Amino acid sequence: MTFFTELWDELLPVGRDAGSGGYRRYSWTEADAGCRAWAERTAAGLGMQAGYDGNGNLWAWWRPPGSAGPAVVTGSHLDSVPDGGAFDGPLGVISGFAAIGKLRAAGFRPARPVAVAAFTEEEGARFGVACLGSRLLTGAIDPDAARALRDAAGISLAGAMSAAGRDPALLGRDDELLASLGAYVELHVEQGSALAGLDAAVGVAEGIWAHGRWRLDFAGRADHAGTIRLADRRDPMLPYAKTVLAARQAAADLGGLATFGKVQAVPGGVNAISSAVHAWLDARAPDEATLLAVLDQVVDAATQASAAHQVRLSVSRESASPLVTFDPELAARLVGVLDREGITAPVLPTGAGHDAGVLAARLPAAMLFVRNPTGVSHSPAEHADLADCEAGVAALAAVLADLAGS
Ligand code: GLV
Ligand code: MN
Ligand code: MN
Repeated sequence: MTFFTELWDELLPVGRDAGSGGYRRYSWTEADAGCRAWAERTAAGLGMQAGYDGNGNLWAWWRPPGSAGPAVVTGSHLDSVPDGGAFDGPLGVISGFAAIGKLRAAGFRPARPVAVAAFTEEEGARFGVACLGSRLLTGAIDPDAARALRDAAGISLAGAMSAAGRDPALLGRDDELLASLGAYVELHVEQGSALAGLDAAVGVAEGIWAHGRWRLDFAGRADHAGTIRLADRRDPMLPYAKTVLAARQAAADLGGLATFGKVQAVPGGVNAISSAVHAWLDARAPDEATLLAVLDQVVDAATQASAAHQVRLSVSRESASPLVTFDPELAARLVGVLDREGITAPVLPTGAGHDAGVLAARLPAAMLFVRNPTGVSHSPAEHADLADCEAGVAALAAVLADLAGS
């Protein structure tokens, strides 16, 4: 058993649904508290000081006497999508601790402070805004707007944080913390199978596609499924269905991606026409112009289909992330460090969002990817082989040693 597998096995049962085998680690829930307790214990075991910033992001510090200057930070997130896999997020946090364990065992003493961070609500699975913790930290979202976000049960972020013992009044940009950071390197399971095709265990990120989330509300008229003539209906399901197909077509035509992964039919009776359909569009593209073109086509289709069925449509943006190109100098430095370790790391773009992409607006940021043999992610079937995870830890340790000096 290695330190990595020890940490992996400890975290594995937390927040796992016995039925699906997937994770339901939503922010500020019991499962989230279990993940945070695990991280605090792990940090303490390594002699690191764990604490929280005002946005609820966890920071575990390795600050041996004599270390000074801008900190080198690694980490990722511990929350999950509904029925997510074990790797998306936790692999980066576990690998961060495992890499520090490796460096300490080798007698390495960093010249600069080193931290492992776990950002809150990266997936936006509970409150709708992806990378919420890093957005708050960098000022990319207004703290009042964040406090007012509500989950599916109507609980606000402010209420959920208070119930978890955190003070939501502290939410917001933290320039002092950001000024103390020199670089952020996030290790993540690859959410695609490019590395498998290239026969490489580890890769380096080039950038992140532009992406965003939009909510579409189709308001119709509730009625009886067995008595109302087709011609007399105002059924919101019909324009919604047409919009799903239009989104697929727009993505295919324009070279982007568009997904409706969440939908609510209200009130949800089998024998009733819905009064409303609420649906969430996730759209992504290699550049912002293409993303906007995909969105335009989807909204046009939804508008036309809604008018044809006398359904009222409203569209609102829940989050948006511009195209990110990671610091080329830092990426090249990572490739060079790995090359010296005998690791050939291809440089890859990704369509997946990450806190590293948000932090890149404020400090040099980079990412390491670990091979995912099937490419499946956001699913209980997400996987990376242990040998590749260990290679990721070795790669991260080499990168941290290089950046934190000796
Ligand atoms: C996060 O995994 C995202 O890309 O939505
Ligand atoms: Mn994810
Ligand atoms: Mn992730």
